[in-house]
Amino acid sequence: MQATINGMSIAYHEQGRGVPIVFLHAFPLSRMMWAPQETALASQFRIITIDLRGHGESDAPLWHYTLDQAADDVRGLLDHLSIQRAIFVGLSMGGYILFAFYRKYADRVKGMVLADTKAQADTDEGKHARFEMAQVAYKQGPSAVADIMVPKLLSPATIRTRPELVQQVRAMIEGNQVSGIAGDLMAMAARADSLPLLNQITCPTHIIVGELDLPTPPSDAHLMADEISHARLTVIPQAAHLSNLEQPGPFNEAVRSFVLNATR
Ligand code: MLT
Repeated sequence: MQATINGMSIAYHEQGRGVPIVFLHAFPLSRMMWAPQETALASQFRIITIDLRGHGESDAPLWHYTLDQAADDVRGLLDHLSIQRAIFVGLSMGGYILFAFYRKYADRVKGMVLADTKAQADTDEGKHARFEMAQVAYKQGPSAVADIMVPKLLSPATIRTRPELVQQVRAMIEGNQVSGIAGDLMAMAARADSLPLLNQITCPTHIIVGELDLPTPPSDAHLMADEISHARLTVIPQAAHLSNLEQPGPFNEAVRSFVLNATR
């Protein structure tokens, strides 16, 4: 499915009926990363996945990207689908976008799941690493980015024993254009510090983290859970950064029970 939003062709998929849940994907992936959640949850909820600008089947113009712009695109999709309020699930970069969305459009958020993400902005060292990765993307293409990212996204055991999952993740990364990858890197490097936002979040919130997550470790998840009032935390064993793909069973159960509680 495609919609024209803020002048861009944006790809999305919706399936199921009931409470709308909008899933925001990680860098540098696409809406395809939510396949196990669509399969498990669409019998009970209205599941909406989106290829953020710069990803998958959405437009990826060579220009300036910001997380606020991604938040505006998500709001445009809600309007397109006539959804006033939804539950959101954002993983990693999807979580950063969810913070940007909440800052601008809190009245559209019924509840949120912050998965394998963090509230802090990039350090100077982190920004420099983004610059370096953008150069790799520009000079060597998405497959070289996949070489760097896969060990950050998946646990060593998954990489060793689940070649089909590794291949799926690589294919998502390689399906993106360099313009979108570099655009994300610039957008993430420039993102605001969301720590001051945490104690202003009033909607039901659940935090999920893989116990082996390296880019956004459990300590970042505990920090968010301590600061956001009434937030609950689920730590998923034997999962790293892409906990929804490595351990979809516990991830889906955490989302399902959160949504049922938040909408009761
Ligand atoms: C992601 O999974 O979205 C990225 O690891 C986030 C980041 O690089 O900060």
